[in-house]
Amino acid sequence: MSDTLPTPPDFRAAMRLPATSVTVIAAGQGDARCGLTASAVCSLSDAPPMILACVNLNSPALPVIRATGCFSANFLTDGQSHVAERFAGRTRVYGAERFDEGDWRVLTTGAPVLTDALSVFDCTLEREHDSPTHAILIGRVQGMLRNETRRSLVYSAGSFAYPAALAL
Ligand SMILES: Cc1cc2nc3c(=O)[nH]c(=O)nc-3n(C[C@H](O)[C@H](O)[C@H](O)COP(=O)(O)O)c2cc1C
Repeated sequence: MSDTLPTPPDFRAAMRLPATSVTVIAAGQGDARCGLTASAVCSLSDAPPMILACVNLNSPALPVIRATGCFSANFLTDGQSHVAERFAGRTRVYGAERFDEGDWRVLTTGAPVLTDALSVFDCTLEREHDSPTHAILIGRVQGMLRNETRRSLVYSAGSFAYPAALAL
């Protein structure tokens, strides 16, 4: 235990322990589709329905989100850790090819949505704030899907899991 100012490795070591939900942020159409796995996604407000997502400034998805003015946040469920790996670049599949697996459709805004995810939020880009490394995106929810019979995929200490204790 230490209460001194953390070094970046210390900070990462502490932040990788708490479990987070896992989403795929997706944007674009056809061959211009782009997406990334992201855990820095949460709800901001219910009225109006808004979500917040942090996307690395180097992500190829960011210019697509900015150009189209919309994106989806797809919270992953049991059986979708391979989707998380794919959209994190761990299977060396890039760009629109990442969408070759899974039932990707469009809902309201035209951004791709993964229909069998746990919860899906189809958003217009309301506002963007910049940090030195990430764009903090605020999305206004225009369409939504949910699968209440599924369990959340979570990520902690480098591993994906589907906690059995989570109520269905
Ligand atoms: C569990 C997990 C959570 C992640 N969370 C984020 C995040 O919140 N924001 C982000 O920009 N990148 C996040 N990443 C990293 C991106 O998924 C990854 O850097 C990116 O997809 C690299 O591939 P690409 O540049 O080919 O898209 C996360 C990766 C993993 C495995």
